[in-house]
Amino acid sequence: MALSLSSTIALNNGVEIPVLGLGVFQMSDEEAYRAVSAALNIGYRHIDTAAYYRNEEGVGRAIRESGLPREEVFVTTKLWHTDNGFREALAACDRSLEALGLDHVDLYLVHWPRGNRQDAWRAMERILDEGKARAVGVSNFLPRHLDELIARSPVVPAVDQVEFSPFLYQKELLSYCRARGIVMEAYSPLTRGRRLDDPRLVAMARKYERTPAQMMIRWVLQKGMVAIPKSSHPERMRENAAVFDFEISAEDEAEMDSFDEGYHTTWDPADIP
Ligand SMILES: NC(=O)c1ccc[n+]([C@@H]2O[C@H](COP(=O)([O-])OP(=O)(O)OC[C@H]3O[C@@H](n4cnc5c(N)ncnc54)[C@H](OP(=O)(O)O)[C@@H]3O)[C@@H](O)[C@H]2O)c1
Repeated sequence: MALSLSSTIALNNGVEIPVLGLGVFQMSDEEAYRAVSAALNIGYRHIDTAAYYRNEEGVGRAIRESGLPREEVFVTTKLWHTDNGFREALAACDRSLEALGLDHVDLYLVHWPRGNRQDAWRAMERILDEGKARAVGVSNFLPRHLDELIARSPVVPAVDQVEFSPFLYQKELLSYCRARGIVMEAYSPLTRGRRLDDPRLVAMARKYERTPAQMMIRWVLQKGMVAIPKSSHPERMRENAAVFDFEISAEDEAEMDSFDEGYHTTWDPADIP
């Protein structure tokens, strides 16, 4: 699979999303400003933030000051679940755009399927229609949550962003999304660093002369998914982006599939009816 840092996947409405992005969770505005500036300099063209992260201002400032044409940077932000409602979501989208200092985002996601997700989705249809987002999708949605949305809306989510790593291989959800043309994005693809020293992963990385982080990111990309690893450190951003000049063999990919232990670093949406 010939991929590069500028490789994209087409979403269900034709919008192209870069396969590798920088996540900015748990960064202040200033940290996000520095991280996004560094990432854009390294060649990242996809940034993943959220209203909940409270750093949209720093993200937007870094993008505007980068000098890159707006259309060259793919920006995702998310609607927090306390704003899951029609009017609430429309207002929250405007607040996010204001904080980012942008007139549209490339992807706007319903962050969690909690609360009034149906009305939030009606707002997403409006936001898409008004051009405030080029694509709309969801995050942490399981098949039953997606079935419910798809049954009542002409707009199929373009993306489902979920926690996904070799230690949380959500195979059934992946098949479900593939069958419906929904692109899956892997968040916490590095297990927030908590499984980087797993002996089987370390051995596999040694075999490929790569780092455990690179093996985990490459594994996600080989599933046809988008990965959004977070780092505040430029040298790690470079490391995490150096995943396009090697391929994990089918046999070794299957071996990595077997690392699955249902390992969640954060809330499991299985608890949300
Ligand atoms: N939709 C959702 O509900 C949701 C939930 C969680 C996350 N996300 C998104 O997904 C992004 C990534 O997930 P995440 O931040 O939870 O976790 P992650 O990307 O799996 O891991 C980030 C952690 O790994 C460290 N790290 C990064 N690169 C490394 C490397 N090459 N070697 C060793 N350690 C490395 C980082 O430290 P340093 O920063 O110090 O380098 C940080 O502590 C988030 O930033 C956010 O944008 C979305």
